[in-house]
Amino acid sequence: MARILITSALPYINGIKHLGNLVGSQLPADLYARYQRARGHEVLFLCATDEHGTPAEIAAAKAGQPVAEYCADMYATQSELSEGYRLSFDHFGRSSSPQNQRLTQHFAGKLDQAGLIEEVSERQVYSPTDGRFLPDRYIEGTCPNCGYERARGDQCENCTIQLNPTDLIDPRSALSGATDLEVRETKHLHLRQSAMRDRLDQWIDSQTGWPVLTTSIAKKWLHDGDGLQDRGITRDLDWGVPVKKGDQDWPGMEGKVFYVWFDAPIEYIACAAEWVDAGKGTDWERWWRTDKGAGDVRYVQFMGKDNVPFHTLSFPATIMGSGEPWKLVDYIKSFNYLNYDGGQFSTSQGRGIFMDQALSILPADYWRWWLLSHAPENSDSEFTWENFQASVNKDLADVLGNFVSRVTKFCRSKFGEEIPAGGAYGPAETAAIAELDRRIDAYTAHMDAIEIRKAAAELRAIWAVGNEYLQAAAPWSVHKTDPEAAAAIVRFALNLIPLYAGLSAPFIPDAADKLAGTMGLDAPAWPESAEAASTALAPGHAFTVPDVLFAKITDDQRTEWEARFAGTR
Ligand code: 2FM
Ligand code: ZN
Repeated sequence: MARILITSALPYINGIKHLGNLVGSQLPADLYARYQRARGHEVLFLCATDEHGTPAEIAAAKAGQPVAEYCADMYATQSELSEGYRLSFDHFGRSSSPQNQRLTQHFAGKLDQAGLIEEVSERQVYSPTDGRFLPDRYIEGTCPNCGYERARGDQCENCTIQLNPTDLIDPRSALSGATDLEVRETKHLHLRQSAMRDRLDQWIDSQTGWPVLTTSIAKKWLHDGDGLQDRGITRDLDWGVPVKKGDQDWPGMEGKVFYVWFDAPIEYIACAAEWVDAGKGTDWERWWRTDKGAGDVRYVQFMGKDNVPFHTLSFPATIMGSGEPWKLVDYIKSFNYLNYDGGQFSTSQGRGIFMDQALSILPADYWRWWLLSHAPENSDSEFTWENFQASVNKDLADVLGNFVSRVTKFCRSKFGEEIPAGGAYGPAETAAIAELDRRIDAYTAHMDAIEIRKAAAELRAIWAVGNEYLQAAAPWSVHKTDPEAAAAIVRFALNLIPLYAGLSAPFIPDAADKLAGTMGLDAPAWPESAEAASTALAPGHAFTVPDVLFAKITDDQRTEWEARFAGTR
């Protein structure tokens, strides 16, 4: 039995996530966690909300709430949605937790002791009216490039040009509209990532088998242009982890907080402490400290491609730089983007379909199946309603659902609601078993390698074996002349249902539970082999005919949803 630590990129607190966010980290991480648990491994699967930084402050201001209250509410909403999608986190934490505050300050102290932190004076925009320094995106003005009047200090949304606040014409505070802005000196901490370049380079080179997407992004940041830059890790904001070295004050840093990208990945570790403090576990260091038992843990991270630099460079720099034996990641699975109907999903513009909306029209399994079987692994992929309808109707309803419905109903009508006795398996069953075992091996290999689309295709093919077997064996015809032979066919086919439940559970957990329940079993279980599964349910074992497992999406529904979700939220 192996020990596997799994983290998903932490969703920002600033609103409900869209399906592109979901498929880029949390959902594939859940698939992998469920799979590894089913294979009997010890898994710790962690995620949390990423609560600091300007996005949280801005979202709270928009909602008219104090930021702490906004975060608490949105945390509750996101937790509920995670449950709705059956994301099986061992703990869903918060980067604003006291555990993360302590650990973030601890890391800063260690990095400082190692000489990796530099104090740098910067000139920054200060607003006397607001009584604070203004981060770039709190400053608005006219874009010098296109004349757009609401360009932000970091970027013009209209023409996309990257800006500095001082580039803006007629700059004003986005908080109060004040125009009496001044430039003042302020001190900030920089993490000397450049001093760790060679170590990071060697570490990345020593990783074998990482996805090309992951290593190419890491290498680009290490070597392109000026190479790895030192990075500011503090901000003049109210909301965040106060800057301290361990539990000591940091002179000159009063009133400042750590930059959100400094404390967020540390929450991966702190979340394990939260898990213990919540009474769900007993020893978190066993997962995170190589001197305390984490030496044999395999740590796998899931994230969208935009997060890769932070996880291949910045967070490892924090960990290595601390000089303490924290666990480094072993494998980074990264994803391209999912697009929405000819454009991009966009949180700020409310474009696409969001987690709450999707669940309001169809159960989680429909979405899980489509998203995972179309995961943007090798290139960006696209959600269209047509494709969604086709794949739900074909894969889930026609292949899996139809198989289960046909065989259970036929058995009920001819033999009653129990596994029929009589007859014997012959060459058709032997052939089906051989094909299933071959495909189960392939499926397992893809799941081990986290090749999600390939795994989904193999699972679909495994479902199809049952359908094809039933179609060819035709127990409804055989029964007319040879009821015993028909009984053997039905017995074999019914025994495939628990096999399908076990294999499908990582993708469609609710349907898998239902299949297991229908066959009188407590829960889906990973099959030992198709051979063993084919006789697992003995004659006389009772089952029930399930009601519709997957309803087909009609053309009318598709058209209605397409229109309903065409605009912005
Ligand atoms: O891109 C994002 O959604 C970030 N909130 C991911 C953070 S991952 C981690 F390092 F905390
Ligand atoms: Zn512009």
